[in-house]
Formats: sequence, structure tokens, C-alpha cells
Amino acid sequence: MIESMADLKRTHYCTDLTEKDVGQEVALMGWVQRRRDHGGLVFIDLRDRTGLIQTVFNPQEDPETHQRSHAVRSEYVIAVKGRVRPRPDDMINEKLKTGRIEVFIYHLRVLNTAETPPFQIEDDIDVSEAIRLKYRYLDLRRPSVQRNLLLRHKAYQVTRSFLDQEGFIEIETPVLTKSTPEGARDFLVPSRLNPGQFYALPQSPQLFKQLLMVSGFDRYFQIVKCYRDEDFRADRQMEFTQIDIEMSFVDEEDVHDITERLLATVFKELLDIEIPRPFKRLTYAEATSRYGLDKPDTRFGMELKNVTDIVAGSEFKLFSQVAQNGGVIKAINAKGQSSLSRKDLDDLTDFVKIYGAKGLAWIKINPDGWQSPIAKFFSEAEKEALIRALDVEAGDVLFFSADTPKVVNEILGQLRVKLGRALNLINTDEYDFLWVTHFPMFEYSQEEQRYTAMHHPFTAPVEEDLDKLETAPGEVRARAYDLVLNGHEVFGGSIRIHRRDIQEKVFHLLGIGQEEAEEKFGFLIKALEYGAPPHGGIASGFDRLIMIMTGADNIRDVIAFPKTQKATCLLTDAPSKVNRQQLLELAIRLDTENKKEN
Ligand code: AMO
Ligand code: AMP
Repeated sequence: MIESMADLKRTHYCTDLTEKDVGQEVALMGWVQRRRDHGGLVFIDLRDRTGLIQTVFNPQEDPETHQRSHAVRSEYVIAVKGRVRPRPDDMINEKLKTGRIEVFIYHLRVLNTAETPPFQIEDDIDVSEAIRLKYRYLDLRRPSVQRNLLLRHKAYQVTRSFLDQEGFIEIETPVLTKSTPEGARDFLVPSRLNPGQFYALPQSPQLFKQLLMVSGFDRYFQIVKCYRDEDFRADRQMEFTQIDIEMSFVDEEDVHDITERLLATVFKELLDIEIPRPFKRLTYAEATSRYGLDKPDTRFGMELKNVTDIVAGSEFKLFSQVAQNGGVIKAINAKGQSSLSRKDLDDLTDFVKIYGAKGLAWIKINPDGWQSPIAKFFSEAEKEALIRALDVEAGDVLFFSADTPKVVNEILGQLRVKLGRALNLINTDEYDFLWVTHFPMFEYSQEEQRYTAMHHPFTAPVEEDLDKLETAPGEVRARAYDLVLNGHEVFGGSIRIHRRDIQEKVFHLLGIGQEEAEEKFGFLIKALEYGAPPHGGIASGFDRLIMIMTGADNIRDVIAFPKTQKATCLLTDAPSKVNRQQLLELAIRLDTENKKEN
């Protein structure tokens, strides 16, 4: 019963049709959303990528076509020809874009049949994500996912056209390349022609875009896939997309300006939202001190207050000892939340343990006094000082963390975000952009017992901190900046080192010896000797940006074929085993192979 569509041409998408088209003959093609048999009349809701329209089959007006409509099932692919007519007044559906019209059908062809899908093709279905990802091609038929990908498509177009108008040149860089250090593990690809040698998939085009500046392209951009083997989070994928930008003869202000205007254009054209500029700014030091995190959600208050001086002399041993050992005690005030139950408080304590907390001290400010395991240790003067420092009123709950500054900031920063969300303190209609600037150049890794680059090793130090490179590397600030949107890092970039001597000094500080530097980035160091202009740039997390713009909870919802938390593709079953011959050609022997064969 499968028929050909030959000699039938589609005239419209379903929702192109309006009351203006009443009386017109149209040909539509798409999927059967639903077939309703009212004894006499049969209604088929036809769906294409634009949405739904109701088609009608009438046994009196066209018995033969009506008869044929009985064979049609959900998700069959059909072509119909008919005439647009207004719906009777009592059949109007204002919720549907085409709800005032319907198409009376006098020609029906079944272009293909379909198995009953494992879930309904509609939004708000109760089905596991695993099933949705296994049948992703069906999942992608659902309107919300289609809307996300459509918005994503428009974002590419607006970005390309904006950057083109601003004089940026789109240039592709290799996917099979050499390791670029962006702080994650590389994905490796064996080279058949060079047995025992591997390409790395780029964690970003960082080195190539710098080389393009040396080549004189002056303004480069690329919408590009990057690959990082790192642990998954709700806003991370192992392959993700960047809008990657590099510019010559610029400083931080130029990069901020182009980024802000790009985003203003994207938000205006896609969401019709004017975003206020210039964006707010905080230094890294201020962001972490006030909000605990370097990507703070500044849509609500509940800032961290340092209360070390107040509680250092208290009877609470834990606090006095931490203070004595050079640690800090900070607190946040969850205003008006004293109705949090004991269980809530225990749950929050468990939550902060994920971030390395040894405990979470709390004080409930009840109308009849302070309720807390630790309040008894504070003198009246200490209590008074806490009241002033934390703006304490009856009904509040205070949370304290005592540890090294780094740990305390992380714990209270994460707790603050968790409380902000749980207590509905966040206006979710707001788009809150924030530049975080002046990151430290280096971070000391206890694990590796050496400094590591906080951004990447090609980031320039702040000029006035140059003389600290040798004496106090931990205090050197970088010319690096992140753009934060609603608590997500959506862009990151920096002004680069363009002098060989400074680049070598930085490698040295990072414990990258001359030989290693030569082997890994020799081509970049060499290029810096041939007239490298001052340059800098930035790259976006494109998927993250689209996730926030569409209001999706998870980055997977804005990627056509995403990977799961376990780095697998449930649709194709990648990654998968390869055959012996393939491995032989690559001169690779698997450790697991021997085990299996034995
Ligand atoms: P960075 O490593 O900060 O900088 O990456 C830029 C932006 O990419 C996004 N991002 C990710 N998105 C999804 N999944 C991931 N696994 C992931 N990792 C990063 C973030 C981040 O802000 N070469 C530099 C840029 C530069 O200096 O110009 C770089 O890649 O939103
Ligand atoms: P304890 O004296 O062990 O009963 O702890 C008293 C309170 O302090 C408990 O609520 C603990 O959760 C909390 N606590 C323990 N360690 C810390 C810490 N490092 N920072 C803040 N609170 C803590």
C-alpha cells in the first residue's frame, strides 16, 4: 500500500496556511500525529517541521478517500491534496496556530508506513532519556527539540553574518592535529602511516588561531567542534562547539566590545531582547570573595561574608583553630528561611560534603532565640558582631564554613547557588551577563606539586605583574577573562603572549622544560620569532549559550546527537570494538584481547 509521491508536489508547510488561504487547493506532506475516527468524519492531524494542521475526511463528500483514511496510523508518512476551509465556530482551537482552519481532503497517498513509536511524538512525555536518545530520530520530531535546533541554526547564521560584517575571516583548522593544552585529557587517533604515533583531536583551535595572527589575517573566526575527554556535567559534552575568535592589535576592551555586540545582536535577532551594555565586571578576586565561585550567579544576593575576625576568639574550638592555622571562616545568611527543617539542614550538610566540607555549622534565628549546635559558644559581643556583619533578623538561617579560603569559597559558593535555586530567589527571566577578569596566571597543583596554567599557557601576564613571574608566581594576574551568563561560563579568552622570551619564561614556570616545549609547541615558539603581532581572542561555549537561550536544563537538549554521561551514543552504540585487521594495520595490540582469548 506504499505509494509514490511522483506527480504530486508539496505546495505549503502545514502552518504556512491561514484563513487567507480558505478556498485554495493545497498539497501537504508530513507525518500523522493522530487519527480520530468520529464514526462518520475522520480527522487526521498532519505534522511537519512547522507544526500541525487538521485534515478532514468526509464519507458523504468523498467516500473513497474517506475509506482509504482508515488504513492510516500514527507516524505514517502521507501526502494529501485538498481544499482549505474555515472550521465550524464550535471547532475552533485557539491554541493551535492553524486552529481556525482545516483541509478537506480528496486525495490521500501513504508514502510510508511506520511501526508504533516507543513514545508519543509530543512534548511533556514521561519517558526515560535513554529511550529518547536510542530513538533520537524520533525524539527529534518533538516540537521542543525542533525549536531548540531551529534557534541554534539561527544563531549560527546571525553569528556568521555579524562577524563577517565586522571584518572577520572564517578559516578552518585541522581536526587531526597535535595536542593543545586546554586542561582536559586528549582524544587520540592512531596514525596508520606512522605506526605508534597519534594525532590528538583539538581541545580548541588555540594554537592555529594564534598562527593565523602571525600570518596577518588580523581577524579570524570559526564555528568549530572541540574535543575534551573530561568528566560530564549538565553543561558539558566531550565534543562541543565554540564560536572561536582571534584578533590582532587589540587589548581586553576590544575583545569585550566585539563579544558584547555579537551577543546583543544574537539576543535581539533571536529572542527580540535588548541586553543592557556594557556588561557588569568583577575581578576574579572579588567574584570569589563575594560569591565563592569564579562564575557567580549574580541574579541574587546572599553574598559570602568573612567573619574570621569575629569568631577567631570564640569558644568554638573548630573556628578558633582554623583561624589560628591561617584558615578563614565565612558565612552566608539565608534570609527568612528558618523554617528549614532539621532534615533540610542535614541534606545541605551532605551536599557540601561533595565539595570537600568537613561539616556545615548553622544557626537558626528563631523569634525566641538562636537555635544551633554552636550558638552556645558565642559571647553576647560576638553575637552582636555577627548580627551586624550578616544583617541578621528573626527568621534567618546562617551557614558557616571554616577551612582554607579556597575550600570555604567553593563550599559556600556552591551552597549559595543551591539555596538560590531551591528557595526560588532567582528571576529566571533575566539574562545576567558578567565579565570576570584578572584571573590568576597560575594555580598550584598539590597533586602534581607544580604550578599549572589557570587559562592556558599562551595567556599574557598583566604588565605590572611581570616582575613577579620569578619571585611570586602565585600572585601574577593574567590578562584572561571569562564571560558568565546566569552562573554559567559561556565565553573564555585572553590577550596572548606574543614574545618568545616571555612565552619561554611561562613554560619554565609551568615546569615545561625546553625540550618538552620544543617538542610540543616548537612551531608556536618559532612563529613568535617571525614578527608575531600583539593579539588576543575569545571562544564561546556555543552549546551552553543555546542551552541558556532556549531555557533547556541540559546541554544534550540543544545538540542533535549528544553523548550520554558515560560518553556513549545510545543511537549508534559508539564507541564500539574494531576488528583485528584494523588494529593490525594500526600496529595496536589491546590489553583486553589477551585476557579474552585465554
Ligand atoms: P575555554 O577552555 O575556556 O577556552 O573554552 C571556551 C568555552 O567553551 C565552553 N566549554 C565547553 N562547553 C561544553 N562542553 C565542554 N566540555 C566545554 N569546555 C569548554 C565554555 C568555555 O567558556 N582556546 C580558549 C579560548 C581562548 O583563549 O580564546 C578556550 O578554549 O563555555
Ligand atoms: P561538632 O563539634 O563536630 O559537632 O560540629 C559542630 C557543627 O560544626 C556541626 O554542625 C558540623 O557540621 C559543623 N562543622 C564541622 N566542621 C566544620 C567546618 N570545617 N566548617 C563549618 N562547620 C563545620
